[in-house]
Amino acid sequence: MDAALATAVSNAPQPNLRGDYSRAGADFVLQQRWSEYAADEHALWRRLYERQMRLVPGYACDEYLAGLARLDADDAIPRLDAASAKLRRATNWELVAVPGLIPDLAFFEHLANRRFPVTHWLRTPAEFDYIVEPDVFHDFFGHVPLLLDPVYANYMEAYGKGGLKAARLGSLKYLARLYWYTVEFGLVTTPRGLRIYGAGILSSGGEVVHSIERPQPRRVRFDLERLLRTEYNIDRYQDTYFVIESFAQLIADTAPDFTPIYERVRTLRSFATDQAAPGDVLLPAAAVRPTAP
Ligand code: PHE
Ligand code: FE
Repeated sequence: MDAALATAVSNAPQPNLRGDYSRAGADFVLQQRWSEYAADEHALWRRLYERQMRLVPGYACDEYLAGLARLDADDAIPRLDAASAKLRRATNWELVAVPGLIPDLAFFEHLANRRFPVTHWLRTPAEFDYIVEPDVFHDFFGHVPLLLDPVYANYMEAYGKGGLKAARLGSLKYLARLYWYTVEFGLVTTPRGLRIYGAGILSSGGEVVHSIERPQPRRVRFDLERLLRTEYNIDRYQDTYFVIESFAQLIADTAPDFTPIYERVRTLRSFATDQAAPGDVLLPAAAVRPTAP
């Protein structure tokens, strides 16, 4: 296209345009502009939501399912201001719309102040099964339900504060692994068996069943130092999952000062994603019979 036309196109109002950081403030926050989502985007959201609801009951932890039900997000891309009102009452969290991934420090600053950044745009139909970056479906469906749980909500704030500290200590590589293996890909044991709380699994069409039922992945009982030393996969299902007993345990085990822990792990070799480590306590795959939706 010629230059004049290109300029005209790029200046045209393009609602909720993916990857447009120009409307965002210094904290990367922008307006959601809910009315500008197209009808086919709401329809795609509904299809994503329905597909996940055929998967997550029976696999997700109870706190997640309870939170999801309270959000009433089944028939359209949710309004972030309405969800924020519910969150404020429940746990004093709120949501802010962002144009996509944001720099580490801005992200930690939001979490430390009990604000969760949610990407405002929705994937395309071609990305129904797999998307390489977070969109509003991953961020909202995956992360927001558990922010209604008071204990989990406190963990997320602690993580944000821990992120600001890890940045000062040059240790973000290790702290990022903690986010990955808990907030994104965490499993939890419950009286009724192994369940999922990680957002990356809960918003995925294939990893829900893989993480709980398939024999291949290693399911290792949560051990902070072991986890901080473990690399992760960003482009395929995880080879290793870490399993907590409760959110209270997660908070307790991550409460100590990480400064000496970072110093120690820095001197030790990292474990490959599929590597066994001395002291690993492995949990078996679970056979789950999903409850009917
Ligand atoms: N206790 C950690 C520190 O001192 C902070 C933290 C808490 C990090 C919870 C992650 C999760 O660095
Ligand atoms: Fe995420």
